[in-house]
Amino acid sequence: MKKYISFPRIEGKGSRQAHCDLPEGTFEREFGREGFFGPVSHLYHTHKPTNWVKWEGPTRPRAFDMTKIGASSGTPWEATPILHNASMRFRYWETSGKMDHLVVNADGDELIFVHAGEGEFFCDFGHLSFHEGDYIVLPRGLKWRIECKTSAKFLLIEATNDGYRLPEKGMLGPQAIFDPAMLDVPALDDAYKAQMDEKEWNVVIKRRGQLSHVTFPFNPLDVAGWHGDNLPVKLNWRHIRPVMSHRYHIPPSVHTTFLAGRFVVCTFVPRPIETDPGALKIPFFHSNNDFDEIIFYHMGNFFSRDNIHPGMITLHPSGFAHGPHPGAFKVGEKAARKETDEVAVMIDTRDAVEISDKATGVEWGGYVDSWKEKK
Ligand SMILES: [Fe+2]
Repeated sequence: MKKYISFPRIEGKGSRQAHCDLPEGTFEREFGREGFFGPVSHLYHTHKPTNWVKWEGPTRPRAFDMTKIGASSGTPWEATPILHNASMRFRYWETSGKMDHLVVNADGDELIFVHAGEGEFFCDFGHLSFHEGDYIVLPRGLKWRIECKTSAKFLLIEATNDGYRLPEKGMLGPQAIFDPAMLDVPALDDAYKAQMDEKEWNVVIKRRGQLSHVTFPFNPLDVAGWHGDNLPVKLNWRHIRPVMSHRYHIPPSVHTTFLAGRFVVCTFVPRPIETDPGALKIPFFHSNNDFDEIIFYHMGNFFSRDNIHPGMITLHPSGFAHGPHPGAFKVGEKAARKETDEVAVMIDTRDAVEISDKATGVEWGGYVDSWKEKK
């Protein structure tokens, strides 16, 4: 059953092929539903949709700088809360050394993204090594801990009361973007066997946001074998082979890596810039009306964003169009670059997110004015 009144019409001066061959002197804005999957219109504006001069009220573009958080903790339960809603909880965790306890998230699946550092991950299912750029999906209820070789920085993205799944690949075929066979799973290897002991261990369980502590007279990571399909999995962004077209700027939804019921996690990885003369070479202006958009900038040069460095987070709430910064037009249209080397994690949420006091404490207040053209 269709959810919307949806039928195509055209009026005035426009392009018949979205994102290509824009009428002279116009700026295309996508006005869409369902995060680039649903009904959509393209409006050809004579001014840039981001050229506001004054903004009052909370629904404005926001930017937060995690390099200024500066809090470190030996447990993920003291990670810094950044953004959340009823179905998603996004936290930032800096840590080092070995965790001296096990943790269980009973509130939902947890997605870890390793922004920096390396080390060993131990859980009910065995051992995995982790490095910068890894995603690790932890099924709800898993007991785990880490041992860092270096100081480490993580994003923790909880799918509250929910789980993660992989996106449908459709006509691209099941091996596109990344082959599911690339997903690593833990091994019951020598490192796992070496960490088993008969000492006292604490398990700290989070349920409804509250912590419970359970003591065992032995290490509960004592598994001799397992089988099944409810497992932690690991994927590094370097194993993602992005979909792109040399003739058409494909919407960000094609970069979806993991899905939960009320949000998606996408990964932007290095890719060539479009070469067709008529194709847009920078992201198009868009009103993604059903979602708030969060982006964490992991590494590289974020060519569509001025003044953004690795470790920053932007939030674009629903309700206004956003798009490339003035600097991106120079880069894209002059084809000064042949590719983008940015790596970023995007979380698009169907429900409005709340901003924590910690995030507001490291906010860059000038972000709302960052689209202003330099005179
Ligand atoms: Fe966006």
